[in-house]
Amino acid sequence: MRCYEFVTSGNAFAVAEVQRPEPTAAEGRVIVRVRAASLNYRDLIQLRNLAGRNVVGRIPLSDGAGDVVAIGAGVSGVKVGDRVAGIFFPDWLDGRFDMKYHPGALGGATADGMMTEYADLAANAVVPIADHLTYEEAACLPCAGVTAWSALMNHGGISPNDTVLTLGTGGVSIFALQIANAVGCRVIGTSSSDAKRERLRELGCRDSINYRTMPDWEKEVARLTDKRGADCVVEVGGGGTLGKSMASVAAGGRIALIGVLTGFGPPSDSLFPIVAKNATLNGIYVGSRSDFLAMNAFLAAKAIRPIVDRTFPFEEFAQSLEYLASGSHLGKVVLTL
Ligand SMILES: NC(=O)c1ccc[n+]([C@@H]2O[C@H](COP(=O)([O-])OP(=O)(O)OC[C@H]3O[C@@H](n4cnc5c(N)ncnc54)[C@H](OP(=O)(O)O)[C@@H]3O)[C@@H](O)[C@H]2O)c1
Repeated sequence: MRCYEFVTSGNAFAVAEVQRPEPTAAEGRVIVRVRAASLNYRDLIQLRNLAGRNVVGRIPLSDGAGDVVAIGAGVSGVKVGDRVAGIFFPDWLDGRFDMKYHPGALGGATADGMMTEYADLAANAVVPIADHLTYEEAACLPCAGVTAWSALMNHGGISPNDTVLTLGTGGVSIFALQIANAVGCRVIGTSSSDAKRERLRELGCRDSINYRTMPDWEKEVARLTDKRGADCVVEVGGGGTLGKSMASVAAGGRIALIGVLTGFGPPSDSLFPIVAKNATLNGIYVGSRSDFLAMNAFLAAKAIRPIVDRTFPFEEFAQSLEYLASGSHLGKVVLTL
């Protein structure tokens, strides 16, 4: 079968197409013919060796969707022909996170991912695709979708009329906008691009701020909310933006700390606003299979479709990663297999 592997490139990595034997279904496992996969910023972290993990020889990408083409002995609840997506942490089925789930994360240093014609997955590490979604749309969900869901619905506890603040227009933030909108929240979004702000408006974001031309954007959040702040902040920037997110969160509000777009360094700002505002700062690490199922039911009930910015063919994997790295996208970048 055709697949990609990470290869060494200087002090970091690149991707190369290789051939591997087609897998057969062992006991408790299923073989998925992957039809589409999607990119996340995480894949750039791996490629650039920003987290110091040796990924050489691993198949990249956590996110993919396709058809079950074979099932192993003892498998129930999944059958040949089912349309499924893989889950990010194959061992995290329910309940709270445990560090033992970490090594299983698809497309990481210790587990193969979905940039392959056939993926060999545990039978309970797949979820059905909602009927209204294409493979391309379903492939957007396992990492970015579930993360936005966990941030807003599990930890954020959002309710109608809450104000949600999203940073930038990448995969997680656009899912957060769609989910928060569907709950009936007011969303304030930020972007470095006025063209993307216009797109945010079309997607239902009532107010947006250009964080490049308005570097003190937390003041604009205060103005837009009559100094109250946002009930929930979807914090994808990390240390470089956390200070402004703390300034933007309402008293008693929640910050979902998700990302590292500004790097892995510590914040230069005092953490005291969290105390002074009685606010909550939660780390979010994707979510469980149960979270994925709950999100799928919500997406189906609300007829929400992921926003696919651009689709690349399998052969243009390297170009798709360059496109993601350019930051030109809004929403998700997808590969078709
Ligand atoms: N903890 C978890 O479980 C988890 C899960 C998923 C993702 N993440 C993390 O969350 C972050 C977002 O991931 P993603 O896949 O959604 O990324 P992505 O699709 O690559 O999003 C990139 C976008 O983020 C915006 N951005 C970049 N730098 C920014 C900054 N300093 N301030 C505000 N916005 C900025 C830009 O939007 P504009 O072009 O509009 O400015 C850019 O286009 C990454 O750090 C990723 O590692 C964590």
